[in-house]
Amino acid sequence: MPTILAIESSCDETSASVCRDGAILSNHIANQAVHEQYGGVVPELASRAHMQHIVPVVDIALKQAGVTLSDLDAVAFTQAPGLIGSLLVGAQFAKSLALALGKPLLSVHHMQAHVLANLIPEERPAFPFLCLTVSGGHTQIVRADSPTELTVLGETIDDAAGEAFDKSAKLLGLPYPGGPLIDKYAKEGNPKRFAFAEPQIEGLDFSFSGLKTSVLYFLQRERAQDPDFTEKNMADICASLQATIIRILLRKLKRAAQDTGITDLCIAGGVSANSGLRNAFTELGKEQGWRTFIPAFQYCTDNAGMIAITAYHKFLAGDFADLGVSATARSEW
Ligand code: KG4
Ligand code: ZN
Repeated sequence: MPTILAIESSCDETSASVCRDGAILSNHIANQAVHEQYGGVVPELASRAHMQHIVPVVDIALKQAGVTLSDLDAVAFTQAPGLIGSLLVGAQFAKSLALALGKPLLSVHHMQAHVLANLIPEERPAFPFLCLTVSGGHTQIVRADSPTELTVLGETIDDAAGEAFDKSAKLLGLPYPGGPLIDKYAKEGNPKRFAFAEPQIEGLDFSFSGLKTSVLYFLQRERAQDPDFTEKNMADICASLQATIIRILLRKLKRAAQDTGITDLCIAGGVSANSGLRNAFTELGKEQGWRTFIPAFQYCTDNAGMIAITAYHKFLAGDFADLGVSATARSEW
C-alpha cells in the first residue's frame, strides 16, 4: 500500500498530489495568473511563482489527503520535458524531501504521465491501448502495452494542437491561453461556415503550422473588406477552426486504430479538455466500435495526480531514481 507524494512543476501550474495504492487522495493545483498580461508563459516568472507556491501547495495536498510526511513511502516529481527553471524547482524540492525522509525518489516523464492519467478512474482502458495526447507543447499518438511500455507512433512535425488553438486565438485578439475561449465561442457557432487548410502528412504524424498561416491569411483578407469581421463572426470562426483541428487529430487516430487493430482508445493532455474534441472522439468511438476513455477535467490539463499514478506504477516496477538525477527541458523516452 505505498503512499506517494507527487509534484508537477513543468510549466505554469504548481501541483501536488497524494496517492495511496493507486487511488488519488488529493490533487491540488495553483495556477499562475502572472502570465496573462504577457500573452504567454514567461519562464523566469514561472520559476519564481513555483518557488512561492510549492511549499503551501504540498501542505494543502497532504492535508486534503489526510496524511502527514511520516506516512509517505516515496516522493515523485516531473523530470522532463518542460521549462527548465520550472522543472528544477519541483526536482529540487522532491529530492530534498526524499533525502530528509529517507524515502525513495521517483522521476516521471510528463508526457507519459498525461497518457497514464487514463489509469486514474476505476473504469480504465485495457492494455494494449492507444492514446492521443494533445497539449500546449506536444501532439502524439502513443501505444501503451503496459504502464511502463509506452511507444510514440506519431507526433507533430511542427506546432502542437494546443499551439494551433492558442496561436489562432491570438490572431483573433483573444487572451492567452486561447484554447478554452475558442471552445466557449465554438459552442454557439457554425462549424461548416469557413474552411481552413488541412495538411496531408504521411503516416501518423501531424502538422499544424499550415493551419495557422491559413487562419492568418483568411483574417487579413476578410478584415480588409470589413474591419469588424472578427468580432461579428467570432462564434463561426471558432467553431470552424475547432472542427478543423478535431478532424486533423481524429483522422490520424482512426488510422492508428486501423493499423494496430487496437480498440481501447484514450485522449489526454490539456486539449482533451476541449468539449468539441471530447464529443467527436466519443462519437467516432461508437461508430468504430472502440471503447473510449477521457480523463476527468482536472486530470487533462497539467496536474500532479497524473504524476502520482505514473509514479505508483514505477514504484511497483521498482524503477526508482538516484538522488543525483536532475530535470531536463527535453527528453525522449
Ligand atoms: O497539458 P497542458 O495543460 O499543458 C502542457 O503540457 O502543454 O495543455 C495546455 C494546452 C493549452 O494550449 C490550452 O490552450 C489547451 O491545452 N486547452 C484547450 C482547452 N483547455 C486547455 N484547448 C482547447 N479547448 C480547451 N477547452
Ligand atoms: Zn502537460
